[in-house]
Amino acid sequence: MAQVRYRKLDELTDDEVYAAYEPPEPDWLRVNFVSSADGAATLEGLSGPLSGAEDKRVFKVLRARCDVLLAGSGTVRAEGYGPLVLSPDRSAWRRARGLPEVPVMAVVSRTAALDPAAGIFTEAPRRPILIVPADLPSDRTAPFREVADVIALGTGAVDLAAAVAALRERGLRQILCEGGPHVFGDLIAADLADELDLTLAPKLVGPGPIRIAAGHGDAAGERPAASEAIPLELRHVLEAGGNLILRYVRSSRGSAL
Ligand SMILES: NC(=O)c1ccc[n+]([C@@H]2O[C@H](COP(=O)([O-])OP(=O)(O)OC[C@H]3O[C@@H](n4cnc5c(N)ncnc54)[C@H](OP(=O)(O)O)[C@@H]3O)[C@@H](O)[C@H]2O)c1
Repeated sequence: MAQVRYRKLDELTDDEVYAAYEPPEPDWLRVNFVSSADGAATLEGLSGPLSGAEDKRVFKVLRARCDVLLAGSGTVRAEGYGPLVLSPDRSAWRRARGLPEVPVMAVVSRTAALDPAAGIFTEAPRRPILIVPADLPSDRTAPFREVADVIALGTGAVDLAAAVAALRERGLRQILCEGGPHVFGDLIAADLADELDLTLAPKLVGPGPIRIAAGHGDAAGERPAASEAIPLELRHVLEAGGNLILRYVRSSRGSAL
């Protein structure tokens, strides 16, 4: 097992935080979540109240590092995602590495129950992508074709393995998924996540809220039973304000780290 590093986030420079999240391979899918210490993914229906400036620093570095930001429509709706923009210093970091100023936004939905006039589509600096099942009636996707590239894959639900392959074919090889729990559940079912970046926030929320993975794993390529848990390796722990910011990599992947 690779050596685990324990560090205090506020002792790290920005360059060191970027370096701490160096992707080990050109094709990489990382998932980023915050959870309360007792496993809640939301407080009052949102992730924001669990989060703080500390883990937001890592959140922003992960966004700056990706080619495409993937999110489920439930997250986009609940969290009110707007156009994907980065701060000037994050965009400058990308420019210095020959990357476009911002990543592409990609939204996964079964039903396209989103507003094509919303800023996430109409004000996006780069043309977003909407990923839907191939059997979704075309009148559902037609309003989006003006404002987004529509990728249609799978029956009943998006075939996430095919969707990941389609993003990579477009050169979007570093994928950051910000959830939500149902998309993550389907990614786990299809064994597509290479990395989980998880902030454990020092809060107890109690029973009720969803955890970070949900659903029935109904994505194509489904793997059986939770009894076959996917093993992860802990690569680092950053402590900040009582938060534990954990970087887990799927065992057998990222051996170059
Ligand atoms: N703690 C955190 O870090 C964190 C992160 C993200 C979100 N959240 C919270 O999680 C909650 C939302 O949870 P959620 O599970 O509903 O979010 P979600 O996974 O973003 O959205 C679920 C929706 O995504 C679409 N979807 C998921 N898998 C799909 C597949 N294989 N094919 C096609 N579409 C698929 C469906 O869209 P349609 O409904 O459009 O058909 C589904 O209803 C919010 O309260 C949010 O604040 C927390």
